[in-house]
Amino acid sequence: MLSMTELVLASHNAGKLKELQAMLGGSVRIRSIGEFSEVEPEETGLSFVENAILKARNAARVSGLPALADDSGLAVDALGGAPGIYSARYADGKGDAANNAKLLEALKDVPERERTAQFVCCLALVRHADDPLPILCEGLWQGRILFEARGAHGFGYDPLFWVPDADGSSAELAPEEKNRISHRARAMALLKQRLGL
Ligand code: IMP
Repeated sequence: MLSMTELVLASHNAGKLKELQAMLGGSVRIRSIGEFSEVEPEETGLSFVENAILKARNAARVSGLPALADDSGLAVDALGGAPGIYSARYADGKGDAANNAKLLEALKDVPERERTAQFVCCLALVRHADDPLPILCEGLWQGRILFEARGAHGFGYDPLFWVPDADGSSAELAPEEKNRISHRARAMALLKQRLGL
């Protein structure tokens, strides 16, 4: 089992750090990569797992600490997994509303039963920059893409993502409920198990 008292998170997002710290408890202190570098590595991988590993290695390199990175997005089956690793910039960086409009347009002729999709979260943890055995934890959240937006919570593709168990979109879930069942929650639960926490 991997034991450590400190790790660096390969993200400048303070909210993510807080969420993760709460989940991991007090035995591991999570530090932000912002303490060590402002430069973000180019995400040149073709998959979530490749990009998560690449970001974790970079964070370990600049900090000298074990490093954790996450990469997440939406994979739509009828689109061969798109927008996938390009989820954040699907509509060329024009933001969430444009991303959602582009997705609805791409699926306009696709019937309900073929609109299956999953949110994906891939976590990679490396002990050092050249670690040959990263810990990888993947969380998938299965759902379907709606024909129009519903709900006001969340971010990104939440208003278009229909959650079968909740019979509503993920933007209609209370934030605590989403954080309990989402792709990120699933990946983080696996990571906790792997770390024996
Ligand atoms: P990030 O790598 O976690 O910043 O997420 C990449 C992109 O995937 C986001 O900008 C969103 O477009 C999409 N995404 C990831 N997770 C979620 C989610 O929980 N809800 C909605 N969209 C998400």
